[in-house]
Amino acid sequence: MSAIQPPTDRIWWKQPLDRVEGTWIVIAFVWCLIMFFMMPYWHVYGKQNLSNEAYRTTAEAFAKKTQEFVDKGTVRTETDQKIPVVRPAPGGDAYLIARLWAWWPMLELEEGKTYRLHLASMDFLHGFSLQPENINIQVHPGYEHVLTVTPTRAGTYSIICNEYCGINHHTMASRLYVVKP
Ligand code: CUA
Repeated sequence: MSAIQPPTDRIWWKQPLDRVEGTWIVIAFVWCLIMFFMMPYWHVYGKQNLSNEAYRTTAEAFAKKTQEFVDKGTVRTETDQKIPVVRPAPGGDAYLIARLWAWWPMLELEEGKTYRLHLASMDFLHGFSLQPENINIQVHPGYEHVLTVTPTRAGTYSIICNEYCGINHHTMASRLYVVKP
């Protein structure tokens, strides 16, 4: 039988299954099953997966918590906009506001320590994208997203918005510092 010509035997589907064809169907099916069960497996055991939680909040409530966090932990300010750089207590909570068109404040984390990173939007949908790591979280207004993160490499990371949020979306960038303890 050729794939171009019509089959000579019109009722070809009544032919018994070829051994090779059967083998490939079994291989493909088993591989599908492996990939299917790898999804829950990696969610629990994979080191690259974020386990994030989300809670309802309001812009006012989250802004208040973030302000308290900034008042307590600011170590310096940066850029001509005097954005506070905050060092949360190792193992503690860190707050980050997304709004048109900035991230506020900047965070300075310690390598090897685990933090609870709280994210919320004050207005529209934004996207938290940590570069060059492959971490992406949609930041919805009305929700407080909480990520449990442990930075493993010291350095300066970029935070960019990866959800189109208006005319200055492309300027919505910030930094995240990870320092040696
Ligand atoms: Cu915020 Cu794009």
